[in-house]
Amino acid sequence: MVNFADRLKQLPPYLFMQLRDKIRQAEADGKDLISLAIGDPAEPTPAYIVETLRSVALDPVNHQYPTDEHKGMLVFRQAVARWYDRRHGVSLRPENEILALSGVKEGIHHFMMALVNPGDIVLVTDPGYPAYRANALMAGAEVFEVPLLAANGFLPVFDDIPEDVCRKTKAFFLNYPNNPTGACANELFYTRLVAWARERNILLVVDNPYSEFVFNKDRKLSLLQVPGAREISVELNSLSKTYNMTGWRIGMAVGGSEIISAMCKFKENVASGVFNAIQLAAVAAMDQGDQDIEIILARYCKRRDQALKTFAGMGITAKPGEGTFYLWLPVPHGYSSLEFTEKLLLEASVLVTPGTAYGPHGEGYFRVSLTVPEALLAAALDRIGNVLKRR
Ligand SMILES: Cc1ncc(COP(=O)(O)O)c(C=O)c1O
Repeated sequence: MVNFADRLKQLPPYLFMQLRDKIRQAEADGKDLISLAIGDPAEPTPAYIVETLRSVALDPVNHQYPTDEHKGMLVFRQAVARWYDRRHGVSLRPENEILALSGVKEGIHHFMMALVNPGDIVLVTDPGYPAYRANALMAGAEVFEVPLLAANGFLPVFDDIPEDVCRKTKAFFLNYPNNPTGACANELFYTRLVAWARERNILLVVDNPYSEFVFNKDRKLSLLQVPGAREISVELNSLSKTYNMTGWRIGMAVGGSEIISAMCKFKENVASGVFNAIQLAAVAAMDQGDQDIEIILARYCKRRDQALKTFAGMGITAKPGEGTFYLWLPVPHGYSSLEFTEKLLLEASVLVTPGTAYGPHGEGYFRVSLTVPEALLAAALDRIGNVLKRR
């Protein structure tokens, strides 16, 4: 019998693997399941990105170890710099403020291993993306959960975090536009957060893979726009959601050069970088894809509005989310999050995510992903409506 390492034993089961198991089981049972549970766009990657991959994959130069290995190709880092400048008004130095990643998820792990010591505290939000907690635990850190409440626009009240916790805190993980709540940050919040973190010597990590999915353009924000943020911050971003490229595994860490250099040092020991051809296709996406982002954003906006209207007709009402492609909805009276999602699975063959999957403060909510085509979304909502009528 193999005895797993303690660091592995302490990890809770990974939520999305459990959801995938449920989908597979339903398929094996011959059920016609519709999943609104996973944020994985159904639409393909735009054709010119796939074409770029096809042509550069033919060049044997790209069959060798990736150029500049762990850091990412210089042309990739230069494209990231152009993209951040154009889309977020943030100027970055490709030499030392950008690191290529195989997606944000990898960056979360690299940050923890490179910068967090056993016994440090890592602040995560509740609700929040489960990988922050898991990777903090793997680094031997303690996790302190900061609630996100509707009453505060799902922004953390950092002044409420006890000073004795702050003294032991190494980093605070935030994610706006937010999965699962759909909330966005604002300039005042980020400015106050940076001042608060600088005073306490706390690093800020903004997980930003939904950075382009903001419905009101005035709310589009990178933490790195805030004066004084850069030295203490890193932003993790990727092409996964922005260009329908979840399967390609390509992203970037951008921010303070000391943090980037620590992550590089860790990465050069555990990975050999991203396939050159994928990095070159990502350059095409970042340089040529602005129009695609508009089309994709308009699609999610339309689905959001239609779905909210349909849910309102069922008595489930919520304020429209400001960003992402998720709806964060209250469960009907009389059910817990889990009870309601199990009911939908059993009686409607529709899979949604229970709010508690993102932390205890997710109780009372369920999350719907708008990444399925309109007809499937409408069919799923129809089924949910029928279940609620039968109550
Ligand atoms: C908040 C958040 N962070 C990170 C990720 C993972 O992104 P990537 O595909 O870039 O690893 C997701 C994916 O669902 C997410 O919702």
